[in-house]
Amino acid sequence: MAIRQLPPNLVNRIAAGEVVERPASVVKELIENAIDAGSSRIDVLVSGGGLGLIRLTDDGVGMDRQDLSLAAERHATSKLSDDSLSAILTLGFRGEALPSIGAVARLSIRSRARGSASGYQITVEGGRKGEVKPAALSAGSSVEVRDLFYATPARLKFMKSERAESAAIADAVKRLALAKPEIGFSLAMGDRITLRLEPCAPGLVDHGLARLGRILGDEFVSDALPLRAERHGITVEGFCGLPTLNRPAASSQYLVVNGRPVRDKMLHGAVRAAYGDLVPHGRYPMLVLFVTLPPEEVDVNVHPAKTELRFRDAQTVRALIVGSLNEALSRAGHRATATLSEDALARLVQTRYQTGFGGPRPFDRSVSSPRVSGFSEDAQAPLPPLSAPSSTPQGTSDELSRAFPLGAALAQLDATFIIAETEDSLVIIDQHAAHERLVYERLKKAFANGGLARQILLIPEVVELDAEGAEHLVGAASELERLGLVLEGFGPSAILVREVPALLGQSDVKGLLRDLAEELAEGEGNLLLAERLDRTLSTMACHGSVRAGRKLSAVEMNALLRDMEETPFSGQCNHGRPTYVELKLTDIEKLFQRR
Ligand SMILES: Nc1ncnc2c1ncn2[C@@H]1O[C@H](COP(=O)(O)OP(=O)(O)OP(=O)(O)O)[C@@H](O)[C@H]1O
Ligand SMILES: [Mg+2]
Repeated sequence: MAIRQLPPNLVNRIAAGEVVERPASVVKELIENAIDAGSSRIDVLVSGGGLGLIRLTDDGVGMDRQDLSLAAERHATSKLSDDSLSAILTLGFRGEALPSIGAVARLSIRSRARGSASGYQITVEGGRKGEVKPAALSAGSSVEVRDLFYATPARLKFMKSERAESAAIADAVKRLALAKPEIGFSLAMGDRITLRLEPCAPGLVDHGLARLGRILGDEFVSDALPLRAERHGITVEGFCGLPTLNRPAASSQYLVVNGRPVRDKMLHGAVRAAYGDLVPHGRYPMLVLFVTLPPEEVDVNVHPAKTELRFRDAQTVRALIVGSLNEALSRAGHRATATLSEDALARLVQTRYQTGFGGPRPFDRSVSSPRVSGFSEDAQAPLPPLSAPSSTPQGTSDELSRAFPLGAALAQLDATFIIAETEDSLVIIDQHAAHERLVYERLKKAFANGGLARQILLIPEVVELDAEGAEHLVGAASELERLGLVLEGFGPSAILVREVPALLGQSDVKGLLRDLAEELAEGEGNLLLAERLDRTLSTMACHGSVRAGRKLSAVEMNALLRDMEETPFSGQCNHGRPTYVELKLTDIEKLFQRR
């Protein structure tokens, strides 16, 4: 076949494939244009998940007649004053968004230039541009996109449900609204306003937190630490969440570079490095970081959707982020974890048993005097099932400490750690980490043996999430049902839970659902089913296990130790942290210089 030059219409549709992936990308491009036009109010209306109608109204500078006729031309932009790409301060610069949208939908733009007496209108339908006509509007611009992808039916087939597309649109609006606190935003879905954000006074750290709370939730407001640092003309400011405010997906980390919401591996890596082991493996702290630097220090022209970038001096940016995060976190006092002396810590050993402990040693019946111990007698609600009491070996502390690798429970410390004694050592067990592993292994086994037993909730529980989260859960409903979790959609953003895995007992259903929703969003399309199931089980285990802060009775503590001994991989919790540490008697003697 001979080479031919493609007609402009086809070229536009091909380019549109990159820029306009789904309705949310249209919303993003239109909001970016409104922001670039200096708007102080941006109102978005969508219906039919954005496939029916997207309408965006702004109060920006608008366009005059001539600009309007150029706006939807390919590679036509007002944002590059010279021919250089090295100092971009606007969100757009490629001159591609409007022609791309016009190539695959029915686009209509009405606009009135600031100071001008009249407004104009132009339409582009499936790539065919109409004439500029007069139009009545008070100020700014109003852009309407109808029947998105009608000109490219193949792409239409890839759209998800209306709910999923609406959720993605809401996310796009939130990310841009978060990046521009001084602009007022509203989002309406059909005839319902789902988000309304008033502009806030300049000064993010001083005035921005309340608005961030409206976007990220109240939890963030109460757990956010302000931070600000500057070096070599680079500023980092924002709020970082306490390490305990973590989520299973990096989408809870909002990064804004020169006013542009971005995803960037280096930035996420710097955050991970700063939090270090304060946050368990596989969890992501929530935070909002604004990085501001001279525009020539970043290249934003690396991705068609402009969501990725390259820093010229990545090292300095990284160091600044790590430094300011460390400083904020240590101010919050959350680094003071090492209470034991270095010397003692050095002697604490954790043996990683790969296949359990090899069963009990024989009882030594000769010693039987019971010892005093600091057990709590007031264990309240029943534990989520540890092993059945009948199978738990009973005996005096001495017998237990001789017979079993993890010995006999002596006391509970801070309602979080179990202190146990073996024949020749002191063992400290993290009750939550340990139990979580046990529940996880048990869930996996039950699942492998043909499914998880379910428990019907007497009163179905309604869990409020956001629309996107609810959508992900409903989409995975049949998968989750195999895991014992029976749920259904309940309105646009809530979930009704009817049954839960029996092994989990009446655990924190709300927290479980929220984590699962985020995990599903993160793993979308990237994870194999097996991996997804595994992760889901792990998340369930986390929510189904004994929390730190729960008082345990002697029987419960010993039952937990016996269970650990019989469970493979019980030396580590699902997040890779140790479940227990052991201090040998000989080492304790050395600490007191008896040896
Ligand atoms: N809401 C608006 N208000 C005022 N002018 C606008 C608006 N939307 C678009 N324009 C004008 O139309 C031009 C083309 O917009 P378009 O989005 O296609 O390209 P761009 O924003 O320049 O670059 P990019 O393709 O990266 O978004 C803009 O450069 C701007 O001058
Ligand atoms: Mg644009």
